[in-house]
Amino acid sequence: MPDPAVVVAQRVAAAVAQLYPDVTEDLDTAARPSERADAQVNVAMGLARLVGKKPHDVAEGIAVALDLRGICSEVTVAGPGFLNLTYDNDYLGALLHDAARDPNLGVHRAATTETVVIDYSAPNVAKEMHVGHLRSTVIGDALVRMCEAVGHRVIRENHIGDWGTPFGMLIEHLIDLGEVDAARELSVGDLDGFYKQARAKFEALPEFQQRARERVVLLQGGDADTLRLWKLLVAESARYFATVYEKLGVKLTDADLRGESVYNDLLVSVVTRLRDAKLLVTDNGAEVVFPAGFTNRDNAPLPLIIRKQDGGYNYATTDLACVIDRVEHLRATLMLYVVGTPQAQHLSMIEAVARDAGWLPESTRMAHVAFGSVLGSDRKMLKSRTGDSVKLVELLDEAVQRAEASIAEKNPELPVADRQRVARMIGIGAVKYADLSSDRIKDYVFDWERMLSFDGNTAPYLQYAHARICSIFRRAGSTREATRQTTPVLSHPSEHALALWLLQYDSAVWDALERYSPHRLCTYLYELSTRYTSFYEKCPVLKAESEVMRDSRLALCDLTARILADGLQMLGIDAPEQM
Ligand code: ARG
Repeated sequence: MPDPAVVVAQRVAAAVAQLYPDVTEDLDTAARPSERADAQVNVAMGLARLVGKKPHDVAEGIAVALDLRGICSEVTVAGPGFLNLTYDNDYLGALLHDAARDPNLGVHRAATTETVVIDYSAPNVAKEMHVGHLRSTVIGDALVRMCEAVGHRVIRENHIGDWGTPFGMLIEHLIDLGEVDAARELSVGDLDGFYKQARAKFEALPEFQQRARERVVLLQGGDADTLRLWKLLVAESARYFATVYEKLGVKLTDADLRGESVYNDLLVSVVTRLRDAKLLVTDNGAEVVFPAGFTNRDNAPLPLIIRKQDGGYNYATTDLACVIDRVEHLRATLMLYVVGTPQAQHLSMIEAVARDAGWLPESTRMAHVAFGSVLGSDRKMLKSRTGDSVKLVELLDEAVQRAEASIAEKNPELPVADRQRVARMIGIGAVKYADLSSDRIKDYVFDWERMLSFDGNTAPYLQYAHARICSIFRRAGSTREATRQTTPVLSHPSEHALALWLLQYDSAVWDALERYSPHRLCTYLYELSTRYTSFYEKCPVLKAESEVMRDSRLALCDLTARILADGLQMLGIDAPEQM
């Protein structure tokens, strides 16, 4: 769909070329949103310097030469030489009509289809999922949805921690408990209890420690019985993770599990290939690579350890194998790692080594989608009352309960069955939105009151705006589809402001996607709801002054509701029709 700002920029460039044919420099002709007008063009400032005139005079000249008939109703020169533009209402109305008839609501498809591998969630087997995993899961899932929405080919990968030394101790603990009891304990989701008991024995009992060490050797050697027990641990954990994903309503399924163990067979070839590439160095008995530009605190080169002194492989080795797999087998053109900020250096080193080794073609991009921590009201890492980390399931259950209580109070008429369904949408939506709406790089404070509030930049506020529109249509007695035949007629300034914002959806989605920053889409949706609210306060819809205005306003309502629902869907959040 033509973005009005793009059309304006082209016309400005044409006017400048006509007035100043000798200027060959690249000029900034962009039309940007401004407080004072629908859009502002600053080209006169730079141009004036080049041609030795006053910016104001240059701007006046452009305003005269500029052909914006049918696009802008007003062009004025303001300040030292800004061009302030007001879009023509008929023009905006026609664009809205186009957007309403487009199943993608004006969001354009990617010009080239990428194969995007998104590495997200990645909890560890036999360990509880904590609130920290929430961030990776929720941010990753939003990126999956946004990439899919613009037509990319997306491969979800859940790189669970299912391999390595702790499994010796976990398997021995499982044997001690007996398979049946162990499975029972794991299936109730008490992964932390299981892990802690194993750890405690490992630390206290030398005999257990010895058994655990031997068990790791058996596991790595492919001993059949050991593998069977290991699989039991992985299966029970995966089953538990699946219940959490189900509650969260994210797209991850068992088919997306690609744990560390999957890359086990590739580890030998990582070593060989690094050696052949002459990158491998022996350092203190370990085999390592020193990628350029990485140093430790004493400014000494920092190694990426590929094979430890004891012959064991590392987390890094697995990640290198994983890069090879994603590039050579999956043909990824973009790889996103939705992983906490503390792993930034690890991932940069992986990328550097993979590039040096020639495994990452220049055309394949690798990006660390980093995120900060979830904090409690004391601004320290969120902890439960007992001082433990907060279990993700418990948090999700509490969210739904709180949402249910709040709906019972706000809308007692809603039938109980609907109430529970809607409570899930609101409670889970609130948790997800609180996470997605703050800049992911920053830490955020987990605050029940705030996230469940029906006011402010929250999921319930957006969901409520959507539900209110649905209720207008129930009362209007006309169908949503019928309104899509109508070209909106804009007259009131709040209609104009709403229209302008509805037409920014395309840019908002792309802007959020290109920066891997879902919060930018949240900000857009929040502003959309506030513009809608002020339109609704000032412009009667069902009681509009004429049939034409009623239809037109219903069309604005419909498009607003669709963009709200579609945008929330991209964030993985449902928009109920009643709440
Ligand atoms: N399981 C890891 C952790 O809990 C995260 C894995 C992230 N993905 C990766 N390819 N390294 O820290």
